[in-house]
Amino acid sequence: MTVTEPSPADPHASHAARAASFNSAAAQYAANRPSYPPALLDAVEELAGRPLQGARTVDVGAGTGIATALLHARGADVLAVEPGAGMAAEFRRALPHIPLVRGNGNALPVTDAHADLITCAQAWHWTDPAHSVPEALRVLRPGGALALWWNTDALDVGWIADAARRVSRFLGVDVAAEARKAGDRIELADPSGRLDFVRRTVRWSRRVPVDTHLANIGSHSAFLTSPEERTTAFLAEERAHLLEVFPDGTVEETYDVRLLVARKP
Ligand SMILES: C[S@@+](CC[C@H](N)C(=O)[O-])C[C@H]1O[C@@H](n2cnc3c(N)ncnc32)[C@H](O)[C@@H]1O
Repeated sequence: MTVTEPSPADPHASHAARAASFNSAAAQYAANRPSYPPALLDAVEELAGRPLQGARTVDVGAGTGIATALLHARGADVLAVEPGAGMAAEFRRALPHIPLVRGNGNALPVTDAHADLITCAQAWHWTDPAHSVPEALRVLRPGGALALWWNTDALDVGWIADAARRVSRFLGVDVAAEARKAGDRIELADPSGRLDFVRRTVRWSRRVPVDTHLANIGSHSAFLTSPEERTTAFLAEERAHLLEVFPDGTVEETYDVRLLVARKP
């Protein structure tokens, strides 16, 4: 499952510490985090009004390259932008043929009107929209599109709602309430209202070994910045709960990818 991130009322670590926390767990992140379904990329093409094939694309907060690799496979001409040393190193190890520059969404290392498409998978919330929105508008060519998306937990699935309650107790934050608040990401994504976002939700699921599921949970910033022994104890208890629901040890994770796309006039 995913964990809503970040919580403004984060009891454990600062926003900056959480944003940087992935670097210590890049290999774990790459091996266990969920990818995104083909229907998501179809929706990006539809809402951006152009095919990915040949699109000059800047993938912001590229991390280990989970989204970048999918965009590249669809024929996009992708430049990855990633601030973190650990995540960038993992990206370069796995995807040496795709260019990556170190940088962040608040100050893109890209010239004006360069891009047909800017993508940001699971990372826009780490940027400051007071800077990242004007930066996106600067880097997009007229008619280009900004596409933001997040894998979010399908909280209408019983075991996922139960697990979210356990995570809430661990973090001291109501993750379902946070997820509902974040459900209207348009306001959070661009409080200035300069971008005219269209919204789409794409549901999908994957079946993974329980160890992969637990390592996925443990790769979220809220867990990476919690004391290790606390996280380890939580994940051990979580394993027992999960094996009651999935006695064969294969967990079916269900996600709603929340997609926002805005075109530059
Ligand atoms: C949850 S990961 C998402 C990685 C990748 N896009 C994916 O889909 O798996 C968030 C990424 O955002 C990066 N990040 C943190 N602060 C950022 C910022 N200000 N601008 C762009 N990316 C940032 C982190 O280093 C991390 O690689």
